[in-house]
Amino acid sequence: MGVEVSVSGLTKSFGSQNIWRDVSLTLPTGEVSALLGPSGTGKSVFLKTLIGLLHPEQGSVIVDGTDITQCSAKELYEIRKLFGVLFQDGALFGSMSLFDNIAFPLREHTKKKEDEVRDIVMEKIDLVGLTGAEDKLPGEISGGMRKRAGLARALVLDPQIILCDEPDSGLDPVRTAYISQLLIDINAQIDATVLVVTHNINIARTIPDNIGMLFRKELVMFGPREVLLTSEQPVVKQFLSGDRFGPIGMSEEKDSAVAAQEEAMAAAGISGGGTKDDFTEIIPQVQPNPGMPERKAIARHRQRVLELLPTLPPDAQEAVRRGMAEEDEIRAENRARDHSGLVPDDAPTAPLRVVGGRTQSV
Ligand SMILES: Nc1ncnc2c1ncn2[C@@H]1O[C@H](COP(=O)(O)OP(=O)(O)OP(=O)(O)O)[C@@H](O)[C@H]1O
Ligand SMILES: [Mg+2]
Repeated sequence: MGVEVSVSGLTKSFGSQNIWRDVSLTLPTGEVSALLGPSGTGKSVFLKTLIGLLHPEQGSVIVDGTDITQCSAKELYEIRKLFGVLFQDGALFGSMSLFDNIAFPLREHTKKKEDEVRDIVMEKIDLVGLTGAEDKLPGEISGGMRKRAGLARALVLDPQIILCDEPDSGLDPVRTAYISQLLIDINAQIDATVLVVTHNINIARTIPDNIGMLFRKELVMFGPREVLLTSEQPVVKQFLSGDRFGPIGMSEEKDSAVAAQEEAMAAAGISGGGTKDDFTEIIPQVQPNPGMPERKAIARHRQRVLELLPTLPPDAQEAVRRGMAEEDEIRAENRARDHSGLVPDDAPTAPLRVVGGRTQSV
């Protein structure tokens, strides 16, 4: 069972450079959340602050009842065992083989015997598709392979909280789909609380239960996917559609002259290059693979969204209801299929899923 992470009034600066201020959010127990934001807005700094690697000037980070910004080094060491972290650059030890890198948390934090360590490491290596590469050094493999090795290491302790900094960067689309599916499957199996930092719009729209958006030193929004995916908030809308036109610019700040120019271009029918997807519909979330348990977080999340529903605009309420009905249908189909005996126990993990008759890549 995952644990809740509750962040309140968090502010972080390096010297005179403020990175973000007054960030408050709760990663709900066992739910998958995604943190979005333009490059350089401090998403990686936020992740590192959650595990106490960086120290905020203000605010609190409560993990399992302990404020990790105030606790002792010994307490922090214990709390860290709850986390599995995939750093943006993989953060592998360059002089250790992949096997030893992945075994590291087990040897450091547990008293497991070497043959037990080997079993766990080889299972995780298999899970991320690196079988055969375990004796290689990080410098001898591709960037995407290093990323997957980092993920394997993040998973060896069966963490209750999983933080992934851009798990998809440097990966091809098929492996990105596998990794996304893997995160959902792991969440279904161990009900871990997950936070994923990503720039991948497909992932943002189909994987998390909750989405947050950092922009101009602030958390613009954080909440259920149903709320953000139907939001008219300009920053959120622009980011999720990947459009050039909007408040986000090449160097973050856009002045009013540029904004006026864009409006004129848009009025003249010139495209900002964003997706033309219909944002009045919520794309169904990716479901666990056949044979996996259902995600326990779904019911809790649904309850929260239903409570929030009356506060949303009428169109959004309608979209959320349609989305819920479609997801219920997909789950019912999955249940029927799982119980039909048509799915073998060793069914391969599928990068594609069928959504209401349409096949959709993740
Ligand atoms: N240890 C540090 N010391 C000083 N400044 C830092 C440190 N770590 C990060 N920064 C600064 O904090 C800002 C945010 O960096 P961060 O890596 O969190 O951005 P990000 O949102 O993860 O970007 P990207 O999407 O490109 O990964 C940057 O201006 C960076 O230079
Ligand atoms: Mg980063």
